[in-house]
Amino acid sequence: MSLLEVRGVTQRFGELVAVKDVSLDVEAGELHAIIGPNGAGKTTFFNMISGFYEPTAGRIVFDGTDVTDIPAHERVAMGMARTFQITEVFPELTVRQNLRIAVEVTRGLRLRLFSTRGQAAATEQRIDELLEMGGLAGNAERHVGELSHGDQRSTEIMMALATNPKLLLLDEPAAGMGHKETYDTALLIRRLHRKHKLTIVLVEHDMRVIFNLADRITVLAEGEVLDRGTPDEIAASEKVQVAYLGEKREGS
Ligand SMILES: Nc1ncnc2c1ncn2[C@@H]1O[C@H](COP(=O)(O)OP(=O)(O)OP(=O)(O)O)[C@@H](O)[C@H]1O
Ligand SMILES: [Mg+2]
Repeated sequence: MSLLEVRGVTQRFGELVAVKDVSLDVEAGELHAIIGPNGAGKTTFFNMISGFYEPTAGRIVFDGTDVTDIPAHERVAMGMARTFQITEVFPELTVRQNLRIAVEVTRGLRLRLFSTRGQAAATEQRIDELLEMGGLAGNAERHVGELSHGDQRSTEIMMALATNPKLLLLDEPAAGMGHKETYDTALLIRRLHRKHKLTIVLVEHDMRVIFNLADRITVLAEGEVLDRGTPDEIAASEKVQVAYLGEKREGS
């Protein structure tokens, strides 16, 4: 059984079919990348996996449970976490305060208890672990709004990890970043995957990130699966090269 089994999902917006009959299996421990030209349906597909959109058709099975009709916040409690294409953090709070919110929300979801001194200590310990894992320990007391784009993104990823997810969904984590920040973000993702054994589904436009990190790649084009395979197979795919020819993307 795969950790995530998406069976023929479709998403219609009126006349537009943004995602059409897309299936995907993600094994535990895999890093699966989803690529495709602008408007291919990648974010829409993520929105269905994470529960923000209800599929027009198809089923989604996560960790053995059919979650198609289960709301987004319950999927988080079941071990699914995501980040957004646009970073979502509290810029006026410090990194530690942002992580504290995420950790406390997680504990509240799971335990529904008032915080005792022991629990407060456990929260601080968990925050320290997340700071360390995310390479953010040196920035813990800085306001997130003052940090580089890359460190803001790391903060957001570590907030998602505060929920102890089995599956992490990352939507364009390197969007709008320069070379160094893109590289740092890729290193963080690699570490979470290799060292912490996280299962990750990643949407990304930066091909260096994709081809260095992914175990397998699914290519979407106009809402449908165009091709799927290892990075080497996708790099050699004629269909994929044709789909990308002529694509113009701002900022890359
Ligand atoms: N809520 C919505 N209502 C109507 N149309 C939508 C909605 N969300 C997305 N779309 C449309 O669905 C199609 C797929 O959009 P989506 O954002 O999933 O693409 P994407 O692959 O993530 O693109 P990008 O690379 O630009 O992020 C686009 O034509 C988009 O305009
Ligand atoms: Mg998108």
